[in-house]
Amino acid sequence: MPIKKRIKWYKILLDVNSLDTILPIGSAREVEVNGKSMCLSRTDKGIYAVDNKCPHQGALLSSGKCTDANEIVCPWHRYSFDLETGKQTNETNGLAIKTFPTKIENGNLLVGVKKTNWSLF
Ligand code: FES
Repeated sequence: MPIKKRIKWYKILLDVNSLDTILPIGSAREVEVNGKSMCLSRTDKGIYAVDNKCPHQGALLSSGKCTDANEIVCPWHRYSFDLETGKQTNETNGLAIKTFPTKIENGNLLVGVKKTNWSLF
């Protein structure tokens, strides 16, 4: 039985013209997408959305820092995660965070959430 994965895009209430004020490069903030808390961050490589809860002990990653290496660093124990892959970068215990695609469309910032539909065809 094939599994179809679709992405549902959610508009984040950010005016991309004010990104430098609301989400400057190197910063992170919490946003709610479809009832889920996410960490939205921006580096010189792009805008990233990841699960806001650190998989170690649950700190809010949106209170952490972005690095020049495109990582988010947890504010509690400084574990770091690659913003593109979600993989942990400074420890070897295999933790990872969930990542979500982002895009800018019609002046709005959108975050995508994968939806899985089961199909008989
Ligand atoms: S809670 Fe994030 S590193 Fe410990």
